[in-house]
This record gives sequence, structure tokens and C-alpha cells, in this order.
Amino acid sequence: MLSWDDYDKNAEESAVVNDATLQKLENVETKAQPEPEAQAEAPTAPAAAPATPQASSPEASETQTEQALDEVFSATENRERVTVDQKAMINCRADLNQLVPFKYEWAWQKYLDGCANHWMPQEVNMTADIALWKSEDGLSDDERTIVKRSLGFFSTADSLVANNLVLALYRLITNPECRQYLLRQAFEEAIHTHAYQYCIESLGMDEGEIFNMYHEVPCVAQKASWALKYTQEISDPFFQTGTVETDQALLKNLIAYYCVLEGVFFYCGFTQILSMGRRNKMTGTSEQFQYILRDESMHVNFGIDVINQIKLENPHLWQAETQEWARDMILEGTQLEIAYARDTMPRGVLGMNANMMEEYLQFIANRRLAQIGLAEQFPGAKNPFPWMSEIMDLKKEKNFFETRVTDYQTGGALTWD
Ligand SMILES: [Fe+2]
Ligand SMILES: [Fe+2]
Repeated sequence: MLSWDDYDKNAEESAVVNDATLQKLENVETKAQPEPEAQAEAPTAPAAAPATPQASSPEASETQTEQALDEVFSATENRERVTVDQKAMINCRADLNQLVPFKYEWAWQKYLDGCANHWMPQEVNMTADIALWKSEDGLSDDERTIVKRSLGFFSTADSLVANNLVLALYRLITNPECRQYLLRQAFEEAIHTHAYQYCIESLGMDEGEIFNMYHEVPCVAQKASWALKYTQEISDPFFQTGTVETDQALLKNLIAYYCVLEGVFFYCGFTQILSMGRRNKMTGTSEQFQYILRDESMHVNFGIDVINQIKLENPHLWQAETQEWARDMILEGTQLEIAYARDTMPRGVLGMNANMMEEYLQFIANRRLAQIGLAEQFPGAKNPFPWMSEIMDLKKEKNFFETRVTDYQTGGALTWD
């Protein structure tokens, strides 16, 4: 089984080749194109200046500098302005430093909506939670387990997502408006990790115990490990897209993180904590989770739009075999989340039980499959927690955020149905 240490070790080994890596990354970033043999067309934007060889004398150095400047001026003279048609989700050759003209208006809109939804963990009042957590008989043992497991899973899961975004995914998505959203998402993941840390600190929990659950508690570790294996290949600094194989590795990463980790793995814990809030227990923690769920709904929606756009622009990547592994990934993730539900709810608690959660997760999995154009695999699965739809229904996203922003700007408390 993979662990976080494997991931760190990989990063350390990669750091040894720092200089060569940086040079290669600069070329990739500037050219933003795959290896020549994988492309049929000539670049539309000037390529990066070649690496300057080691100067042997001041005169040689001066000559090389002049040559480099000539190349820059020549490239500037010949540079064409970026057009929408040149922009693409992956393997794009257009200048990535120019945000406009937009090709994907939806990505820019999501960036704006995400900014309008801004919140900070310290704004949530945790007083009632602290009193309840410290009281002898305020919560049952099963309820306490749910709070601890949720904070244990999420406190590291959001770091996993943030690291995947920043260290693996970002440079491979070659579209500036999508990158703008990814930067916003990365900050939101930092806020989420902050929120979990804030809850853990406020409640006076054993931080070592909670932050190590993704190593030490099997049902939590299995989910983290499952996601990490999809980061490993594309986080290699030498990894480049541009072939069917590498483009599919990127697609797998997107499906693993957006459809499964953020799209399925979060839902048992979210439902449990929000159900607690609806029963007037741990209301501060629940309010934090509600804000986070609203951000996460947007993350999932964005990721699905990116996946579908890549499919549209590269239909050769989405053949029968690819669809089969995409479906299997979502089904595998759903089984891991069902196992998590059974482990955290050995008995009925908070008006729910593991069987109800299993059906809910099947309902969610059907939705994720359909969102990327695959057939539903759990016929007839219904949503046993319709109140969750009030918060996370993607179709209501627009109204959802309008309501959210008003609440945030007036400092009003969120209401529970
Ligand atoms: Fe998050
Ligand atoms: Fe997220």
C-alpha cells in the first residue's frame, strides 16, 4: 500500500536533479507543448530561447548575451496575438500568461463565484461545540467517533488535494482561465485544512492522533493511499503530456481527485457531520463543514467540466477501454467509501445507518458516472438524505451561491432545514 512517505521520498529524489529539472520545466512552461513527434502542427507561439551554454570567457559571454537578446527581439517582432482558437485544455501552445480572450467562460465564472464565496474558519463561533465536547454526557461514543474520524480524514485529505493541484496538476492544465480557478481552489483547500485544524485545536483534541489517522486507521488510510497512487506518475517533474498514454494518466488523475476523492470520499463524513448540526449538536463544526461542502461542490463541478472538455477536444482519449477504467475507478472508490461508512457507523446513529449511507453513496456514484458520460451502475439507488441536496445540488449552484454570499456579507448564521 502506498503511503505519504512514498510520496515525500519521490519528491526528495526528484529534488536531486534540480537544475536540469528547472530548465526542462521552463521550456515546457514557455512552449506548453508536447514532444514534437506527438504533434502534427507547427507551434503558433515562439518557443523559449535555448539554454545558454556555459560561458568560457567574458567575451564569449557577451556574444552569447547579444545572441540571446537578438532571439528575444526577433521573437517579439514575429509574435502573434493569442486567439481563442489557439487555446486548449491540455497540450496548448498559446502564451499561457495571457488570461484573455477567454475560451472557457465557465471557468472564469467559477473563479468569480469562488471568490464571492470567501469565508474564514475563525468567523465561526465554536463556543457551543467546546462545551458539548467537554461535557461528560453531551455526545454518545458513536457520535464522538464520527467527529474524530471526520476530522482525521479531512484534515489530511485536503492537503492531499492541495498538493496534487500545486505539485502535479497545475502545470499540465494549459489554459489560463482554468489555472486562475486552480489557484483559487488551492487557496480554498488551504482554508479547509485551516478549518479542520481550527476545530481540532478548539476542541482540545490530541492533534497527533487526529493528523495521523490517515496512516493509522485502515478505513482512512485506504482512501488516502488510493488517491496518492494517481498523483505519483504525474508529479514527476519530467512527466509531460502529449502522448495517448500520458494524456490518459492526466485524465486518471482528474477522475481520481475530482470524481472520487472530492466527489465520493467526502460524502459520508459530510453527511454525518451535517446530520449532527441538524440535531443541534456540534453546530460550529457543522457550520464549518457546510461552508466547505459548498466550496467542494464547486470543485467537483469544475473538475467534471475540465474532464468533459478534454474528452471533447481529444476524443481519441475516450475510447471503450478508457471508459471502462474510468467506471472501475469510480466503483472502486465507492466501495472504499462504503467501507468507511460501515467502520464509522457500526450501529444506527444520528438518524442514519451504514445501509442508508451505502444507498446514498450509490446515488452519488451514479451521479458522478453520468456527469462524465458513463452509464449509471446502481439502478434505482435513491437519496435517503434529501436535505443534503438542499446544500449540494449542483443544479442549484447559482441560487446557492447568491444565498451564501448574502449570508456571509451580513454575518448572518446559516440556517438548518
Ligand atoms: Fe477542500
Ligand atoms: Fe476541494
